[in-house]
Amino acid sequence: SKSKDFLGKKILITLGPTQEALDPVRFISNHSSGKMGLAIAEAFSKRGAEVHLIAGPIKGEIPSKFKTIHVKTADEMLEASSAVHSQMDICVFSAAVADYKPANVADQKIKKTGSSLSLSLTKNPDIALTLGKQKSQKQIHVGFALETENEKKNAKQKLSKKNFDLVVLNSLQDKGAGFQSDTNKVTIFHQSGEQKESELASKAEIAELILDQIKNVPVWI
Ligand code: C5P
Repeated sequence: SKSKDFLGKKILITLGPTQEALDPVRFISNHSSGKMGLAIAEAFSKRGAEVHLIAGPIKGEIPSKFKTIHVKTADEMLEASSAVHSQMDICVFSAAVADYKPANVADQKIKKTGSSLSLSLTKNPDIALTLGKQKSQKQIHVGFALETENEKKNAKQKLSKKNFDLVVLNSLQDKGAGFQSDTNKVTIFHQSGEQKESELASKAEIAELILDQIKNVPVWI
């Protein structure tokens, strides 16, 4: 195994989906499993770091060695992340945050009275964008991109817009990559223009690769 090359570093990882309530019993969400975020958390922990998780609702137990705050909504995820952000050395934004939330949350269960129902949605805060504006010279931010077209162009735009040092582009072209899977295939983009493409590998192996790439970021040392 590798040395404790992240000893003493404080890491923030957002992971999982968010749930945005429509009424007391329903919500809007997505299929994010949180597995990539957890694999990154394991890798950092193994390599000596102190890992803080801001976790949306995911299946299964989260190991107690991680300092975990459980949240449901994007607003809660932003609040919890903002509260600790300035103390962190490295932030990894792996959560699949719902882009929109219901404009109004009904007090009572919505009844099926009409033949159709329109929902009004309003934009959620962008956690990575918000904290990217507050990033110090010494902090490293890592983001994810999941694109279905113009993959590389969109990934690079995300890098500059959200002030990421690295963007991890998930390949959807490859079987065995993505959301629920235990394997993944990624391309990592640096601010410098450098790129690193992985093979199809376990999420644990991809996590190690991401940590290795973080060490190539100029603010590291
Ligand atoms: O813009 P897009 O959603 O494709 O960007 C993905 C990246 O931004 C991921 O790193 C994701 O965790 C982060 N993000 C966020 N808050 C949002 C939307 C995305 O932190 N509301």
